[in-house]
Amino acid sequence: MAEIIITKPDDARECYRNKTLKQALYDDGEVVMGDVLINLHGDEHRKRRRLENRLFRRDTFFSYEREIFPDIIEETVRPYLDEGKAELVDFGHQLMMNLAAATAGVDRPEGTAEETFRLYAYMLDFIEAATLSFYTGDKDAKIQEIQESLEAFDAEFLEDGITRRKALLRDFEAGEILEEDLPKDILMVLLRNQDKIPMDRASIRREIAFLLLAGGHTSATAFNRVIHNIFKWIEDHPEDTSRAYNDRLFLQRSTHETIRLQPSSPIAARWALEDITLRSGIEIKEGDRVVIDLEAVNRDKELFGQDAEHFNPDRELPDGVSPWGLSFGQGTHACIGQDLAVGLAFSPEKSLDDHLFGLVPVAIQTMFLNGVRPDPENPPEMDDSTTRPYFGKYPVVFSG
Ligand code: HEM
Repeated sequence: MAEIIITKPDDARECYRNKTLKQALYDDGEVVMGDVLINLHGDEHRKRRRLENRLFRRDTFFSYEREIFPDIIEETVRPYLDEGKAELVDFGHQLMMNLAAATAGVDRPEGTAEETFRLYAYMLDFIEAATLSFYTGDKDAKIQEIQESLEAFDAEFLEDGITRRKALLRDFEAGEILEEDLPKDILMVLLRNQDKIPMDRASIRREIAFLLLAGGHTSATAFNRVIHNIFKWIEDHPEDTSRAYNDRLFLQRSTHETIRLQPSSPIAARWALEDITLRSGIEIKEGDRVVIDLEAVNRDKELFGQDAEHFNPDRELPDGVSPWGLSFGQGTHACIGQDLAVGLAFSPEKSLDDHLFGLVPVAIQTMFLNGVRPDPENPPEMDDSTTRPYFGKYPVVFSG
């Protein structure tokens, strides 16, 4: 058994699309990730994906971005604006988690900062499950702790939401309410389709916990890095300062460019279920582990130019090359939340009025509209509890 590292875009695309390669990134994180969408394979994956695709459509994303998210952003950011400062790592996770909670179906009936903190503590445990292969402490103890956390999360945040949705479903079936009165979230979709795709309570709980982290953690990591990259960019290009504070498309391009350069998940990994020879000649044997090195793939000079290693929100791209590279994957497991997270690349013949910006750019815009800048007294620190390059602390202040 060998580990095959893929660094070229064509090889990466071919691997993503090969159905005899099976997810290998979450083998250690079974406690949450065991049977969730990203870990399913073949027919089981196809059925669950088809179900969840019903919700993750562009018209739903528009209604999230225009109607549902603005209030959640306002409610999450308000206490920090009042204080005049924030620590971006925690704040970004809380914000993105609250947005992901709305799409997953985790009700937050109180809508208070205190409730956000309680849900946030659970999400931090679920993130540890997804990144357990990189964990440097005692893994067995951590798994036990995460299982307990999942059960407590269920009692505190899922139980009532499931009862509420089942009651709504009964009302809908009795013709007392309309389709549009049902919540637009994954929990609703799963409960509504129990006859076609039955899932027991533990499995539903894992799927919702996974969605919370799939939507929350990836977007929060990107959120923090985009703001950092923009701070650095305007330090070197002071003439662009007003773009950062006024131009939504600049913020969206900065988001796409950051996600290309620093993919939220820096690798994808697959187990080979059969022998494969890629068109480039690379041989993969059954049982090999294939690792797609997204940082290398996304810095390919032929696709992204000689300065591919650097952040450049004004990068010109050849036709057909996506500005985020392969950071959202491709093929059967391609990110279901991509358009929701970063919107669509803008084409000048379209109008800004019906442009989908994506929740990360929209959240970043809120920060810049409120005059975010690095806290001059407290420089950022890296997180040393993991081998991945995450910020540990990123203090900022708001200047209104
Ligand atoms: C910057 C934000 C995001 C990034 C960089 C990102 C990245 C990715 C990547 C690379 C994959 C594929 C993994 C693989 O092939 O092994 C993926 C899958 C997935 N993502 Fe995202 N994601 C983001 C935001 C979101 C959001 C907002 C949601 C949901 C609200 C979401 C839900 C999912 C789900 C459910 C899958 C599994 C799809 C499947 O296996 O069929 N992601 N994401």
